[in-house]
Amino acid sequence: MSSQAPVYTTSNGAPANEPYSAQRAGIGGPLLLQDFHHIDLLAHFDRERIPERVVHAKAAGAHGYFEVTHDLSDITSQSLFKQVGKKVRVTARFSTVGGEAGSADTARDPRGFALKLRTDEGNWDWVFNNTPVFFIRDPAKFPHFIHTQKRHPQSHLKDADMFWDYLSQNPESIHQIMILFSDRGTPDGYHQQHGYSGHTFKWLKDDGSFVYTQVHLRVDGGFKTLDNATATRLAGENPEYGIDALFNAIEAGKFPSWTVYIQTMTPEQAEKFRYNILDLTKVWPHSEFPLRPIGKFVLNENPQNYFAEIEQAAFSPSHLVPFIEPSADPVLQSRLFSYPDTHRHRLGTNYQQLPVNAPIAPVHNFQRAGPMTFVSQGAAPNYQSSLAPLAYSAPAKTINHNVRDHERLARHEAFVGGAWRDLSVITELDFEQPRALWAKVWNDQQREAYVQNVAGHFSGVKSAVVKERQLSVWAAVDQGLSDRIAAAIGHPSVAPLKVAPAAEAERFRANLGFALSL
Ligand code: HEM
Repeated sequence: MSSQAPVYTTSNGAPANEPYSAQRAGIGGPLLLQDFHHIDLLAHFDRERIPERVVHAKAAGAHGYFEVTHDLSDITSQSLFKQVGKKVRVTARFSTVGGEAGSADTARDPRGFALKLRTDEGNWDWVFNNTPVFFIRDPAKFPHFIHTQKRHPQSHLKDADMFWDYLSQNPESIHQIMILFSDRGTPDGYHQQHGYSGHTFKWLKDDGSFVYTQVHLRVDGGFKTLDNATATRLAGENPEYGIDALFNAIEAGKFPSWTVYIQTMTPEQAEKFRYNILDLTKVWPHSEFPLRPIGKFVLNENPQNYFAEIEQAAFSPSHLVPFIEPSADPVLQSRLFSYPDTHRHRLGTNYQQLPVNAPIAPVHNFQRAGPMTFVSQGAAPNYQSSLAPLAYSAPAKTINHNVRDHERLARHEAFVGGAWRDLSVITELDFEQPRALWAKVWNDQQREAYVQNVAGHFSGVKSAVVKERQLSVWAAVDQGLSDRIAAAIGHPSVAPLKVAPAAEAERFRANLGFALSL
């Protein structure tokens, strides 16, 4: 061994003889309690696992940057977008959703698309998926829905009846089911797919005005997918296919990159929009709300240590920066709570102090102590002090509430209240976008792939009730679609699910007792 090689030590830094040594009583006798080296080795090994994420456990990750390419000061006072050319360091984590940490990368599942942007004004997390829509618009359904993707409580098997039972009872999921069972449900690796905020966010200016936004990351080179047969074969031959492809693309200098866009909508446009801006089962048509380029995202650095830099990364939609706010979307609102809650459980109270999570912006607050405190803020005040030099100053720029148009704001908030109530109703509106995918967006080959991909999974359902109900959901999208799936699994044709007319949803948003067009 070279003389430059580091000396092997115990965890307190003391040089130790050799890794396999264990102290014994006499020659060949039992082991000794005094042997810190040996106990240190085993005790730490016993504690190596932290809880895996309850969802999104299987993942790949890398580092890179986000570069601002367009000035956005007309829509937000967030300082990042005033500096064209500014680059911020990013950590990305891509994941499947339902499977355990050892499950196959090519499983049919949405992909998590999480980024941590280290801005001068704090960390801004984009906790997105690779689909523009989601299965639910009511957050109370999330644990139910996720449990149906997990193992059956008795058989400990994945269970097609649970999966389709849930979906057929909650037909607002159909848009996501159209995407998931197309070949988009099996992307070719983590680095050849788009990412979407799905949720509506609010980007504000310092006068309190705002636009609603949706963020899109479009991969340069296009979204590449696998067909079902290839995805299934790879799941057996190389379950790490996605990690492998991302890691080796970066090692080879073929850095994956994305062009980042936003769609924007004014509050007035939101009030007149055909769909509910708080409903993440819907997309905003690009023809009405064009993609506006904002930046570039590049991954050019593999982690040195996966556990430290990717597994310990803690992303949350509530890690926001000034002038970027959540909308009232109740699924997003629930997520604002859920992620930091799970981080405190998974990583501990001081998860924000772990190197991968620590902001580059200085942190000054009143949080102190707790397990694994690495940063104690020295002699800084642990209460709101008025004594120089301890008192904190206010941020340079905040929203000036005095100049806000309060009447207009109050009326928009009443509209949002109506939009919120509208989320509980299933109407004909819920089938328009899935129908457009089937009838207008896809070609014959994509339609056939969809039918075959569904049939492969759906044929595993045993319950006649569940089969009939889900076929009625597809029939509400398009009778021909439902009949083709029915034929593929040897089932008779089923009539469409009866749903309320589109006007039922509009009633909630329109019937507010005052004019909505401001
Ligand atoms: C991960 C909850 C909906 C994207 C997670 C985790 C939880 C969670 C508990 C594990 C976090 C961790 O342990 O670090 C929820 C709840 C939802 C919801 C309660 C709805 C009520 C969504 C939606 C999206 C999304 C709509 C995307 C638009 C992600 C991503 C991750 C994740 C990307 C992985 C983050 C990472 O790589 O660490 N979610 N989720 N989730 N979720 Fe959700």
